[in-house]
Amino acid sequence: MHNFIGALTAVLPLAAAAPYGLGPRDSTPGCTAISFGDFAWTIENFAYYASYTFSTPAHQISGGDVTFNLTNPAFPEKVSCTAYSTWLSDFFYGNINYNCSVPEGSGTKTSFSFSWPSRQLNINQTWSCDDEDPQYPITFGGYGTVNLTLDCKETNYQNPNWQPGQIYSSRVINCAPVTLPLTPHDKTAVA
Ligand SMILES: *[C@@H]1O[C@H](CO)[C@@H](O)[C@H](O)[C@H]1NC(C)=O
Ligand SMILES: *[C@@H]1O[C@H](CO)[C@@H](O)[C@H](O)[C@H]1NC(C)=O
Ligand SMILES: *[C@@H]1O[C@H](CO)[C@@H](O)[C@H](O)[C@H]1NC(C)=O
Ligand SMILES: *[C@@H]1O[C@H](CO)[C@@H](O)[C@H](O)[C@H]1NC(C)=O
Repeated sequence: MHNFIGALTAVLPLAAAAPYGLGPRDSTPGCTAISFGDFAWTIENFAYYASYTFSTPAHQISGGDVTFNLTNPAFPEKVSCTAYSTWLSDFFYGNINYNCSVPEGSGTKTSFSFSWPSRQLNINQTWSCDDEDPQYPITFGGYGTVNLTLDCKETNYQNPNWQPGQIYSSRVINCAPVTLPLTPHDKTAVA
């Protein structure tokens, strides 16, 4: 919290500088106060699904996918985050920042990274509030991280009588969706 205020004070003298070109049109009443306050996102229905399919003993078709929605109490839009990877064998290693999608013209940007081995999810989001001074919108950045607890089921199948054209074996990992709040470990504000 202390760092956050410090960062704001340090940056305010540059108030006339262009605020990243993010449109503040999504601002809700109270946007600024909410953003400065005890702020938490909601991660909705985080789900992980992976399948490893061998069409022959030597030919693998495998991929993993992650989906969730993110809501921010400062603005009404729901952000949709999805990623698909075929990078064997865990698919997600926390080293790629995937962009989430928002309705066209939205003034927010959201990205995430995920690691299956550690279940670690990182969220970055920027958004603007113009409810206090429409001429000088404040752009916020939030950074959050959480190690998810996931309830996953694994199903294995091995074709006992495999013939070409059939599936030789498959392994599926399916995790029940989880919904949880996430408080950023860091926030910035630039006016
Ligand atoms: C995200 O929200 C959209 C719109 O409300 C909904 O259609 C979709 O099913 C949600 N996705 C998840 C993973 O909850
Ligand atoms: C996400 O968007 C940024 C620009 O907004 C782009 O530079 C980056 O390559 C995108 N990342 C991915 C994984 O597509
Ligand atoms: C979030 O932003 C930080 C600092 O700019 C960057 O180091 C990190 O890779 C970003 N992570 C995601 C998930 O976009
Ligand atoms: C999350 O997992 C990472 C990697 O396993 C670990 O370094 C970190 O301490 C964990 N964080 C928390 C808050 O448990």
